[in-house]
Formats: sequence, C-alpha cells, structure tokens
Amino acid sequence: MSDASLPRTERVDFRATSDPALQEGADRGEVNLLSYRELYWLWERQHWAVQDLDFTQDRIDWHERIGAEERVARMGGLSAFFVGEQRVEAELGPLMRAVPDEDARIFLSTQIADEARHVVFFDRFYSEVGVLESDELSSRLEETAAHLNDDFTRLFDEMLKSRADRIAAVPDDLETTVEFVTLYHMVIEGMLALTGQHFITDFNEAAGTLPGFVDGFTKVARDEHRHVAFGARFLREMTQRDPRYGVAIQRTLTEVLPIAEGVLRPKWVPDDVGDDEMLFGATLNQTRAFAAQALQRRLKVIGLLAAA
Ligand SMILES: [Fe+2]
Ligand SMILES: [Fe+2]
Repeated sequence: MSDASLPRTERVDFRATSDPALQEGADRGEVNLLSYRELYWLWERQHWAVQDLDFTQDRIDWHERIGAEERVARMGGLSAFFVGEQRVEAELGPLMRAVPDEDARIFLSTQIADEARHVVFFDRFYSEVGVLESDELSSRLEETAAHLNDDFTRLFDEMLKSRADRIAAVPDDLETTVEFVTLYHMVIEGMLALTGQHFITDFNEAAGTLPGFVDGFTKVARDEHRHVAFGARFLREMTQRDPRYGVAIQRTLTEVLPIAEGVLRPKWVPDDVGDDEMLFGATLNQTRAFAAQALQRRLKVIGLLAAA
C-alpha cells in the first residue's frame, strides 16, 4: 500500500516522528522516542514549501461549491488555527533559550522555522482563496480573531504568554519551562491542533473539497507530530531527573484542560447541537475521545500514567 492511501494516523512518515499518540505500543508505555538530534535529522528529511502548494481548485471550491453558511462555520474552525499558529510562533523564542540541552535548542530552532511556515501557509491560503477582505497578514489576523472564543484567549494570551514572559525573564526557571512545554506541546499542539487537523482533513477528503489546503495541512500535521515527540522526550527526561517536574506537569494539566475543552467546542457551534450530534463529519464526543487517547498515550510514555 502506498503511503498516501494509508489512514493518516498510520502513515509511515507520521509514525517516523515517534509521537506516542500514533503507536499502539504507547498503551503499554513501550515507545522508542527519538533523541533531539534524531528529531533534527528527521526535520531535514521532512522539508516542504508553502510556495509549492496549488490553491487553484480551493478557490473554486470555496466560492462555488461551499455555501455561505458553511463558509462561515468553516472559517470559524480555520481561524483558531491561523491565529493559534501565529501565537505559538510568537511565543516559542524564550523556550529555545531556556532548555538546558544544546541538542534540544537546535531542535527548537527548527520548530520556530516550522511555526513560521505554518503561519505563512494559512496566510497564503486565506489570501489566494479569498477567504477574507483584508489584504495583509496583520489585518487578516485581526479580522479572523473575531471568530475566537474567550477560552482561546485565556489559553493563548494569558496562560501561554505569561509562562513565555516568565522564562524570557528567568531562563533557568526549569519548573516554568516544564509547565510551558506541557501547555504548548502536550495540550495546544498534541490535543487541540492535531485533533482539529485530523477531523478537518477527513471531512475535506470525504467531501472532495480544498485539495491544496488538505495537501498543506497534512504537512503541517506531520510537523506537529515531530514537535509533540520533542515535547514528550523533554518531559520524560525532566520527570526522570526530578519527580517535582512530574508534579508540575500534572498541576498544569489540571489547570488548563478545562479551558482546552472550551476550545474544542468553539462559539460557532450552536448551543442546541448535542455532544453526539454529527458536525462536519464527527461528533464533539468523538473529537474529545481522539484528543484524550492521544494525551493518555503520551503521558504513559512520559511515565506519568500507568501502562495498560
Ligand atoms: Fe504549528
Ligand atoms: Fe507546532
């Protein structure tokens, strides 16, 4: 079977990242996480370019095949990604400086480049497909932010930003560094981004819409699996170094998971849509279950959850 015809979570190039969410062995805590240097080598092999994507059919689909009401709902879902990518790109610098390992710092330098590429991917999609009226990046971000909910703002502009500010000021505060990676790599990338990407891509593939977007978004998802694999490696090393870092991970999850839940149910979802009702090809409960399994597998590999 060629790689492209496999279910996305079974793709060889996705599994090559060593993200525990993609390996059944993680249920038993058995995953061989790549080292920081191996993740860097993989980054070199998994390069792609936004300028190579072709959005010609996407523009036709958006304006001629997708109705006005569905466009508004889809835009709501995509806005969280566009603004989310910009936020994580803008907040990652302090972590690169704070990590106590040179190979980890090298990997994080590649991740900053990836996050910049993800922002440019959305910017090019929005501009070439004609999703918004605005004509440059900062005004497009402002226009699209209107679709975000309060939980999104709390998660990114308060919880993430305050920790980035703290490690920028005190780079040897390893406890806050661990909290930051828990929120950034485990929750924002691992639970929210990869879950949304999985279901949005499935929906477009089934509907036969937005082929250029699907192509680019799949490459974004592969980058995210690599980032999450880095996060799992880092958190496992820190937990093994000192159990108090494991406590910091648990404490952060307790604080942020209720807010993350609110991001999974965005404000364009009408109040009367039940948790088991189909919406864009999946129910809210299905998306929650997907996100929860991914988190559990990673926590087992980090050593914070008993293996099955
Ligand atoms: Fe990203
Ligand atoms: Fe990322």
